Amino acid sequence: MPTMLASDLPLPRIGRGKVRDIYAVGDDRVLLVTTDRISAFDVVMAETIPMKGAVLTQISAFWFNELEGVVPHHMISADTDEIIGELPVLDSHRADIRGRTMLCRRANVFPIECVIRGYLSGSAWKEYAKQGTLAGEKLAPGLVESTKLEPAIFSPATKAETGHDENITIARMREAVGDEVAYTLESMTRAVYRLGEKLARDQGIIVADTKFEFGRDQDGRIILIDEVMTPDSSRFWAVDAYQPGQPQPSFDKQPLRDYLDAERRAGRWNGDAPSPPLPASVVDATSKRYLEAYRRVTGVDLAI
Ligand SMILES: Nc1ncnc2c1ncn2[C@@H]1O[C@H](COP(=O)(O)OP(=O)(O)OP(=O)(O)O)[C@@H](O)[C@H]1O
Ligand SMILES: [Mg+2]
Repeated sequence: MPTMLASDLPLPRIGRGKVRDIYAVGDDRVLLVTTDRISAFDVVMAETIPMKGAVLTQISAFWFNELEGVVPHHMISADTDEIIGELPVLDSHRADIRGRTMLCRRANVFPIECVIRGYLSGSAWKEYAKQGTLAGEKLAPGLVESTKLEPAIFSPATKAETGHDENITIARMREAVGDEVAYTLESMTRAVYRLGEKLARDQGIIVADTKFEFGRDQDGRIILIDEVMTPDSSRFWAVDAYQPGQPQPSFDKQPLRDYLDAERRAGRWNGDAPSPPLPASVVDATSKRYLEAYRRVTGVDLAI
């Protein structure tokens, strides 16, 4: 299967994110194309990771299917034949888009990243270690790094156009979207994470934290959009390697991070773009980790 750095499809392109290209399909649908781009330490690499786009799209599709009846969502189809049946203009691009493409209901996106944390890690651990709080709220004293948080903590952020997303209080979120929407987004976030965290843990993956996006469809319904509980939108840890009291290896990106750290320590990379060229062994190990993440979450090998 060919890898993809950027797509070029005969549809109106309405967006290009760090990882996805977004095309309009009429006025009420979008086609999300997930490329094989990868970033680490906030730098997008020059290399593509084989199968990464398909893994991300098909993990999201798996979750949307599991979430049927739990929350309304945007997925119409992630099956390439079905999508080409709807959009015959894509027939000559079949090899490029296979597995990585999702046809979705178009939404008006709320400008909020709905982050939920079931474990104390990353920026949340840094804030807690410094001042005993998470998103400004006091937590119990004496918690260790990577500890399980019960209940999970909802910590929204704004969707920054450039640079880092900024954590905001729930009060700020209410001002931005109104009390009722804020309440609905938090409840939906908790419902999706509750289901996903449990199902993934039974399969050997800890979804330590994750980020959801929501929007309103043409009928005014609030729906779950974007990608769902993938290694890119979440911290994935291996259940069998979990050791509270320390940072956890990243299930998917650790080979890449270790390589980049070594390049930095050796003085061959200053941490900014452009990234150093990746050896084939690192690209290959990373691709295998993504495929293994798919296998663990869904219980089967990726077949596309
Ligand atoms: N159903 C939908 N309707 C409209 N827009 C959507 C829908 N689903 C996802 N999107 C948007 O498509 C984009 C996905 O692209 P991608 O994930 O590459 O962006 P990104 O780099 O994550 O953007 P950001 O850096 O802001 O997170 C996001 O801006 C998301 O809000
Ligand atoms: Mg995104």
